Amino acid sequence: MAYFKTERLVLRPLQLKDAERVEELAKEYDVAKTTLNIPHPYPEGGAKEYIQRVTEAEKNGEIVCLAITQKENGTFIGIINIKEDLKHHRGELGYWIGKPYWGQGYCTEAVKALIPFSFQELKLNKLFATAFTANPGSWKVMEKSGLKYEGTLKQHVHRSGRYFDLAYYGLLKEDYLGEW
Ligand SMILES: CC(C)(COP(=O)(O)OP(=O)(O)OC[C@H]1O[C@@H](n2cnc3c(N)ncnc32)[C@H](O)[C@@H]1OP(=O)(O)O)[C@@H](O)C(=O)NCCC(=O)NCCS
Repeated sequence: MAYFKTERLVLRPLQLKDAERVEELAKEYDVAKTTLNIPHPYPEGGAKEYIQRVTEAEKNGEIVCLAITQKENGTFIGIINIKEDLKHHRGELGYWIGKPYWGQGYCTEAVKALIPFSFQELKLNKLFATAFTANPGSWKVMEKSGLKYEGTLKQHVHRSGRYFDLAYYGLLKEDYLGEW
């Protein structure tokens, strides 16, 4: 079971008791609108269902999903996950932070904690993430964490009646660890 401490954060497994807080933060439109998976409006009871689904997927080795909490007081501020593609040995990073906590470097701190884990423990060959090109907060997190821009996928996703371009960032094991 993955568990990490950084300078200001504890990343710990999601628990059913987090459901109310997940709902409180994820129901905000500004949090949902640049993600592909957070529904808006957020359905009543949706967080509980999400946590149950993710916990099951975690048992099957398909995903590592962690609550991002503040170390000093345990406050839940967001979620970070790595979806594993076991065939291709790659993992896709996903994350969100509650709006009151944006712009304080929390997401970058969480991503940086998961990078060594991805290569050394999960044995991934590649870690990647995508973000709406119109979401600089997200692709800046990737850049600050050392992922490299690989290109833009034009009109790759459909959300709220519109098509969006996605910026694709990746980090290879050989570049991170300096080995093959
Ligand atoms: C994207 C998100 C996770 C970033 O979390 P965060 O904790 O605020 O990220 P950080 O503080 O580590 O870094 C964000 C960087 O983007 C910058 N940034 C944020 N909004 C920006 C904007 N509109 N224009 C330019 N830069 C912006 C911040 O200034 C910061 O860079 P800096 O440290 O150089 O100042 C958060 O905004 C979020 O949850 N958004 C909604 C959900 C989402 O989009 N998730 C990602 C889906 S791919």
